[in-house]
Amino acid sequence: MSKGILKNAVQISHMIVAEVVAKGDTVVDASCGRGKDTLFLANLVGENGRVYTFDIQEPAIESTRDLLLENGLLERVVLLQEDHRNISQYVNSGVKACMFNLGYLPGGDHNIKTEADSTLEALKGSLDILAQRGIITLVFYPGHPGGQIEMDLIRDYLSGLSQQDFEISEIRFINQTNDPPQVIIVEKLHGGI
Ligand SMILES: C[S@@+](CC[C@H](N)C(=O)[O-])C[C@H]1O[C@@H](n2cnc3c(N)ncnc32)[C@H](O)[C@@H]1O
Repeated sequence: MSKGILKNAVQISHMIVAEVVAKGDTVVDASCGRGKDTLFLANLVGENGRVYTFDIQEPAIESTRDLLLENGLLERVVLLQEDHRNISQYVNSGVKACMFNLGYLPGGDHNIKTEADSTLEALKGSLDILAQRGIITLVFYPGHPGGQIEMDLIRDYLSGLSQQDFEISEIRFINQTNDPPQVIIVEKLHGGI
């Protein structure tokens, strides 16, 4: 793990999201895992904001619920044990940030993980509901089985989007060993509300 100013991929995603999200905003955690990103988002949006949080696994939803309860922030979060491909069925347009922290549940079954095709579908759904000047962050784990394939598919798709409509960038630690996690950041420049 880097000890420099950027620290690691997850911290970079938090730095970017914190720049954009304000009190009262609606945001999404597309893969809540143990709930750290959801907790981070719940603090950012304040008591009048909303966090919609997705995960397909019950242990992830339960861990996230426990973490929110411990911190007194459960009321501002909608917990959904649901595939993130269905984001747009649950969340209306105007989303200020959507965080994807991909891979498997820490301390869980490593065979249950995000998959390239469904991540792409979920990304498309989240692009649709993103507010103008809203942000999507994706943290990839290219060192995990299937992680590189997932990252390549998403990068290929995003590379083809119009630069008039989206600003898309990636940050990676180019001198670290063992395929460190990487971040892609999408900002919607036009469209949305
Ligand atoms: C790396 S973890 C997320 C870490 C988490 N954000 C945190 O702060 O602890 C990835 C999560 O994605 C979930 N996941 C995998 N496929 C999914 C899908 N199709 N829809 C929603 N969640 C999914 C896994 O169950 C796992 O909990």
